[in-house]
Amino acid sequence: MDVLSAIEKRREITHFKPDPIPSELLDKLMRAAYLAPSGNNLPSREFILVTDRKTLRTLAATTPYMKWLEQSAAAVVIVSDPQLSKYWLQDASIAGGFLWLTAVSLGLGAAWGAVYHSEDPQESERRECYARSQLSIPDHLRVVAIIGLGWPAAEPGPKQMYPLERVVHRERY
Ligand SMILES: Cc1cc2nc3c(=O)[nH]c(=O)nc-3n(C[C@H](O)[C@H](O)[C@H](O)COP(=O)(O)O)c2cc1C
Repeated sequence: MDVLSAIEKRREITHFKPDPIPSELLDKLMRAAYLAPSGNNLPSREFILVTDRKTLRTLAATTPYMKWLEQSAAAVVIVSDPQLSKYWLQDASIAGGFLWLTAVSLGLGAAWGAVYHSEDPQESERRECYARSQLSIPDHLRVVAIIGLGWPAAEPGPKQMYPLERVVHRERY
């Protein structure tokens, strides 16, 4: 599938079939994350692939907004290092986008679970500490997001978008 088709098809998928994701596909997903660009080409962001059912269930409690991890076949936890790069958050985010589109191109579904909370440092710390403790993540790494992955069990209806002109400006704002 070409990139534009994957972009057009991409939706957040939150219901998954119980089937596992073959290891070749998991390798492709991790390679897409690895190949995502980063500021100054620094390896600020790192990825933890989780397929263990018990761990997925435990991770579902990281925030109230990722219950779908209980059903997903896998998850990729995206962590990033502010000590290594000032672009740590952008680096992690673009890698998540690459992962998501790659999942679509492979026929998989993905859901984005935000962990890092920019407006509430205490809540962010609580969430990140929880994920860190479950996965032995070093303290200096920020936990940006957990991406749930699996074979879609239900496709959402057509996407209701606001008009393109709401966000696209030409030549000047
Ligand atoms: C930065 C970011 C944070 C998000 N956080 C969550 C989340 O915590 N839980 C969740 O279920 N979906 C989350 N989403 C998914 C969005 O809600 C979803 O992409 C959006 O509603 C548009 O729907 P679509 O992906 O089907 O186009 C997040 C998406 C992004 C990009």
